[in-house]
Amino acid sequence: MFKLADTLERDGTLDKEGFAALISGRNPEIALYLREKAAGIRDRVFGKGVFLRGLLEFSNYCRNDCLYCGIRRSNRLAERYRLNLEEILESCREGYELGFRTFVLQSGEDPHYGEYYVSEIVAAVKNTFPDAAITLSLGERSREAYARWRKSGADRYLLRHETRNPDHYKKLHPADMKLSNRLRCLYDLKDLGYQVGCGFMVGSPFQRVSDLAEDLLFIKELSPQMVGIGPFIPHKDTPFKDFPPGDVDLTLYLLSIIRIMEPSALLPATTALGSLDGFGREKGVLSGANVIMPILTPPGARKKYLLYDNKICTGDRAAECRFCVARRLDSIGHGVDVSRGDHPGFRP
Ligand code: 5AD
Ligand code: FES
Repeated sequence: MFKLADTLERDGTLDKEGFAALISGRNPEIALYLREKAAGIRDRVFGKGVFLRGLLEFSNYCRNDCLYCGIRRSNRLAERYRLNLEEILESCREGYELGFRTFVLQSGEDPHYGEYYVSEIVAAVKNTFPDAAITLSLGERSREAYARWRKSGADRYLLRHETRNPDHYKKLHPADMKLSNRLRCLYDLKDLGYQVGCGFMVGSPFQRVSDLAEDLLFIKELSPQMVGIGPFIPHKDTPFKDFPPGDVDLTLYLLSIIRIMEPSALLPATTALGSLDGFGREKGVLSGANVIMPILTPPGARKKYLLYDNKICTGDRAAECRFCVARRLDSIGHGVDVSRGDHPGFRP
């Protein structure tokens, strides 16, 4: 195990069998070894400052029907909402005053926000807050739409690939969703000059060790600027309601592996990790993460953006999350980095 870890650090990757062996062979000693390596690398590249992103969940309408997700189209019990341009700007203003210099605009795949409307939103946010970065997370769209939004001022795009194994992908998604299109989107986004984030859930139903190994190989191949991973958490009104949640320690272990593979990646300690474990996000940072995304969504809406059960922060206001995260980082000897937090290789 220790030899595999050293090879990973030296070469920045392993082959599929190597990744699978490293994952299957997980034990507390090797986990600690990887965590210390990963934290050291993160400290060397980024220091102790953790970048904050204000997450604005502006619509929970979704045309897709992913089997794991609480805002899937078939969930009639989800109360739907949309924020308009003014409400989005208002939330960004609140976020700006709280010190956020990245806004993550996220929604379900909601056709109400078409190519031109999104472009108008991006341009308005950019004009109002020219020194803030804009990250979009709106799912699969056309290359033309991505290109237009990039021109309007979008800097980054988050689109988790969810799993790189086509058979596993089919078990998590309805037949009309294709892994090939998801990958097409990710390569288009990269090509258009976005800082791109892929990622996956840890412990999603039917996930095998070999699937995780393929996910890690895919990260190496795509070489994204950001990687979002968090544990799967069941949602009571989805077909996956009876599946167990993902493992927190395995998630932390994979975070460390990804940090060692991609020393300058932007790696969030996710809300899902914090939802499954009261100190999940702190543990994520200690395992190599360097981004936290406090929620900026206004109070009425945030209770409705429920991808999984027991999500944290649903009763809090933006300022509470902002300062809660700062306190938590303080408690582990880290701090908030208030800059835009671009990937070291990015030129806007
Ligand atoms: N548990 C954990 N993460 C989830 N996501 C969606 N549903 C769940 C769930 N039940 C993740 C997906 C998606 C991201 C926005 O949230 O990976 O890409
Ligand atoms: Fe939202 Fe702690 S981050 S309350």
